Amino acid sequence: MDAPRRNVELKARDRDPEATLAAALGHGAVDQGVLRQKDTYFAAREGRLKLREEDDGATLIAYARADAATARTSAYHLVDVPDPAALAAALDASLGTVVVVEKRRRLLLWEDVRIHLDRVEGLGTWVELEAVAPAGSDLSDEHRKVAELRAALDMGDEDVVAQGYAALLLARGAATDRMVSLARRAMERAYAPYSNFHVGVALRDEAGALHFGANVENGAYPQGNCAEASAIGALVTAGGHRIEEAVVMGDTALIVPCGGCRQRLSEFADADTPIHLAGPEGVRKTVTLADLLPYAFDLEEAQK
Ligand code: THU
Repeated sequence: MDAPRRNVELKARDRDPEATLAAALGHGAVDQGVLRQKDTYFAAREGRLKLREEDDGATLIAYARADAATARTSAYHLVDVPDPAALAAALDASLGTVVVVEKRRRLLLWEDVRIHLDRVEGLGTWVELEAVAPAGSDLSDEHRKVAELRAALDMGDEDVVAQGYAALLLARGAATDRMVSLARRAMERAYAPYSNFHVGVALRDEAGALHFGANVENGAYPQGNCAEASAIGALVTAGGHRIEEAVVMGDTALIVPCGGCRQRLSEFADADTPIHLAGPEGVRKTVTLADLLPYAFDLEEAQK
């Protein structure tokens, strides 16, 4: 396998794509033309795994990335894929697909920095800078070039985002159907011989990874645990930190998390985090955590 490659990148909303193109060309960037890309994100155990399909071929990209609203450093591996349809089917069957990102990209080059002027399905227009670092670089040169281009293209603080397109689409509900499937699978696997009430929960974390869990009862009744607790355990174990979206499924008129689980969710979710209350056929009602748990106890607040 190749050694991990590194780059420095920055992404911002592009309110005026024509002006950005003119500014890039005016700064000396060279137009490399337009390409179409389709990225399929799979549910990787560590980091992110995506299949990129372009006009001239396909590549599997495995990468670890720390999100921050600043220029970021990425480490990634690239693998050429001769049969993308077969690979996508295999990865979907074994890992599951999380989200698909399709875009039209105009590529420009300026001093080895890639400038991407992107139009993303469902997300609008964006500009992205990517300075690929040669082996051994301390990245200072890459950071300097990205800063110069950022000023030239007028990428303001208010437009810079830390998330990738996949995360932005996920925030708009792109994974909800997939989460419903996972919650259903968990519900079907629940161990609930005493209550005979089966619950499944799916959670999406801050990196876009999906986790799920079922209720697990016990002959010594108090030792049983709710599906929320199982799913939160899976999220934390996989390296997740926050709950961005939740699906709670039970086969009853309208399942609602128990009082204890509202507090459990509140440890990792925000007041406006969407909680989808679902039956086996899908979402029946969507509420926020604050709807379920107003006046939530927060230890940090309590100690102020
Ligand atoms: N249950 C959950 O898994 N989550 C909830 O929020 C409500 C209740 C489970 C616990 C127990 O196994 C069964 O449902 C009946 O209470």
